[in-house]
Amino acid sequence: MLFNTNQQGKVRALETPFYYYDLNLLNETLDKAKQAADRYNFHVHYALKANFNDRLLHLVQSKGFGADCVSGNEVQKSIDIGFPADKITFAGVGKSDKEILTALEHHIFAFNVESIQEMEVINSLAAQVGVTAHVSLRINPNVDAHTHHYITTGLDENKFGVPTSELEKAASIIRQCQNVELIGLHFHVGSQITDMNVFKSLCVKVNEWKNWFEERGTAIKILNVGGGLGVDYQNPDENPIPNFEAYFEIFDKFLERNKNQEVHFELGRALVAQCGTLVSKVLYTKSGVKKHFLILDAGMTELMRPALYQAYHKIEYIGESNNRTINYDVVGPICESSDCFGKEVPLPESKRGDLIAIRTAGAYGEVMASRYNLRDEIRYVYNDMLID
Ligand code: LLP
Repeated sequence: MLFNTNQQGKVRALETPFYYYDLNLLNETLDKAKQAADRYNFHVHYALKANFNDRLLHLVQSKGFGADCVSGNEVQKSIDIGFPADKITFAGVGKSDKEILTALEHHIFAFNVESIQEMEVINSLAAQVGVTAHVSLRINPNVDAHTHHYITTGLDENKFGVPTSELEKAASIIRQCQNVELIGLHFHVGSQITDMNVFKSLCVKVNEWKNWFEERGTAIKILNVGGGLGVDYQNPDENPIPNFEAYFEIFDKFLERNKNQEVHFELGRALVAQCGTLVSKVLYTKSGVKKHFLILDAGMTELMRPALYQAYHKIEYIGESNNRTINYDVVGPICESSDCFGKEVPLPESKRGDLIAIRTAGAYGEVMASRYNLRDEIRYVYNDMLID
């Protein structure tokens, strides 16, 4: 159970909705991931985009992870939290000049460059400030991640990375760029990947393109294979920690790396998803001609994933109830029909004021919250705030 009776009493007194973060679970998850990665000497950068809540970041940083950023503000945030600059990567298809300059100023580990034009801009900005930028070239490997099409990134039709047809040109331009040093290759094929064969296919492509560069006399020091490891949204209690051992083992087995060639990962969701829960109160219950509705005080403004990706999140009643089960459409208060967390969800018969938990919300939850409808700023609570 998410909260014991004592904690439930405390939760009832709090203003809802709020994100609840279990830092003990996060701690354990991070330790497991780090141990599994360390076994193969793999480097893991935490993808801040999944959650940049300060306390989570401090914990991630304290375990020795690097940071994977997708904006100048995320780069700055990582520095402020204490991530060493030489463990920070900066990715994204649309880096502005200002963002590039922020990253150059901090001498980050590497830019993951997504186009030839971007490479040229980084080169000229680096020349302006008199530094050499380290870059990894993001290659679009055309691997199907078999995940939701909104979070698939490695197909030819996706905007990410340099298409393989352009690599010859990219390699020649890199050689001309005086203020750019190519240190590695970068790949990321999608998110919430649960089919491990996808990572095998990725390894095959990485090997292929690494050899391509090496055959042309370009040394590749870093192989960055991105993130994407999925979590179990259906069974958060049974599978609170992803199988990091199996994940890293695939790369150890199928990735051909030379001596001294480093392998880097950018995990987001797998590290933080299960430690977060959106806690909400029932505002109203309503039965229509066809439906029973539970109207919550949280909506798509707090957790956008169901509305945006039709994503499944387990919905639970908090507390004891001997009431009969009703199939509810669990909805939020926002003036949009897509503001729905789940349809026909079997839950104990509920009443105004009852508490509902929406699980596995630690990744891409709080960070994607919005003020639409001029909603309150999102609130959050940590497990240590529920101790006497
Ligand atoms: N590296 C790159 C280049 C990425 O684009 C992403 C995620 C990651 C790493 C981290 O991926 P992860 O390990 O978290 O799967 N908002 C969506 C997910 C968007 C993912 C974007 N890129 C969702 O709520 O499902």
